[in-house]
Amino acid sequence: MMRFSIQTIPFALVFLASGLTSVHAGEHVYSANNAKWKTECGACHLAYPPQLLPAASWRVMMTQLDKHFGADASLDAKTAAEISAFLEANAGRNKREATGKPSQRITGTRWFKQEHDEVPTRIWSSPAVKQPGNCAACHTQAERGDYSERSLRVPR
Ligand code: HEC
Ligand code: HEC
Repeated sequence: MMRFSIQTIPFALVFLASGLTSVHAGEHVYSANNAKWKTECGACHLAYPPQLLPAASWRVMMTQLDKHFGADASLDAKTAAEISAFLEANAGRNKREATGKPSQRITGTRWFKQEHDEVPTRIWSSPAVKQPGNCAACHTQAERGDYSERSLRVPR
């Protein structure tokens, strides 16, 4: 049996390598889902992926929904608790998503600005985009949590 093990090694390496490739390709596809989050937090804008803010930001946001960026996004206590748990369980853990103090603006985080520094200022305020939080204007599959380069089309 021992002599087979040496033949297994190249296969193991190929398997490992392809595994890593697919992890990298899926890096900007956010698949976490919750029906209440999708409906309630997708009612006025698209449901922003929980991974794009740290848990502390979501926690603060979910306690101030009556004063949500000038809008009233209040929910009943049970729904709010379910959505909070979902957001915090899937919140961003990388340093790049955290900003020090718990910002509620994804578009205000340092990683967002760095990731988007190639987008000219006039594009952000153009009629096709209107505001940076309108992710789907450029990330055509954002509704499905897909922010990969593949589906990116920046309007001119
Ligand atoms: C009643 C409408 C409404 C609902 C419902 C709503 N929002 Fe918002 N949300 C807004 C408005 C208005 C803004 C600010 C838009 C702007 O000025 O860019 C905003 C902005 C945001 C931003 C910041 C986006 C950025 O620019 O980086 C996040 C994050 C966010 N909302 C999360 C949520 C979550 C989570 C829920 C569900 C609990 C939710 N929203 C439900 C109206 C709503
Ligand atoms: C005006 C067009 C535009 C809007 C609006 C926009 N983005 Fe982007 N986004 C880009 C461009 C351009 C890149 C850079 C892609 C690259 O580096 O190849 C990018 C990159 C990204 C990346 C990294 C993708 C990768 O493969 O490296 C993420 C994640 C992302 N954006 C999320 C968002 C989110 C979330 C929103 C809304 C809150 C948003 N974007 C709004 C144009 C936009």
